[in-house]
Amino acid sequence: MGSGSTKLRLGVLASGGGTNLQSIIDACSAGDIDAQIVRVICNNPNAGALQRAERAHIPNCCINHRDFDTRTAFDAAVISQLQQDRVELVILAGFMRIVGADFIRAFTHRIMNIHPALLPAFPGLNVQKKALEYGAKFTGCTVHFIDADVDTGPIIAQAVVPVFDDDTEESLSARILEQEHRLYPHAIQLFAAGALKVEGRRVLIDPAYANTGKFHASALINPPPA
Ligand code: GAR
Repeated sequence: MGSGSTKLRLGVLASGGGTNLQSIIDACSAGDIDAQIVRVICNNPNAGALQRAERAHIPNCCINHRDFDTRTAFDAAVISQLQQDRVELVILAGFMRIVGADFIRAFTHRIMNIHPALLPAFPGLNVQKKALEYGAKFTGCTVHFIDADVDTGPIIAQAVVPVFDDDTEESLSARILEQEHRLYPHAIQLFAAGALKVEGRRVLIDPAYANTGKFHASALINPPPA
């Protein structure tokens, strides 16, 4: 039995350009994640994520939500494909569809999402713009398990990003995205290592991976004190 066969089997769902997908592809190839992407599914035939999967020789397909009358029917097609591929962890990487109850039941605590804000602040869409307009001094990104509501599931990991006075939606989004590309592979590797335990709303991290001393006296203050 080769070591490849013991790797965690990931299925990635994406709707857009797929830069998060790319960061996971790269982390798998570099050996930073003990996992392999066995399937990429896009709901949008023009998603750049499909080309990224193709370039990396990862099995990929489009399951277009427009071809289905109901979300339940669309979800059933996606679930069926993921089960056929024996996917163990589902990764939503810029997947702009709401995941229904059947999907969540089929993969309880085995669907991760990345959101470009520090949940529970700014759930929903266009959240970089909302954080900027609100006047927040920090925002960031969150990786969480999916539950029955939108952007409410148990939080696995977060990265904090400062907001500057001269930020535009674009500059802030780019700063957050850079951290998304670090955070998502990290969270997936914690899962792959068996370091995550869900207790109610909380995701507890195996002590070997948490509180490693790096946070000593390192509170973030924006604007920074002299
Ligand atoms: C990312 O910023 C991700 O956090 C966001 O979409 C972008 C996808 O970029 N996801 C959501 O807003 C989910 N509600 P990508 O296609 O380059 O990975």
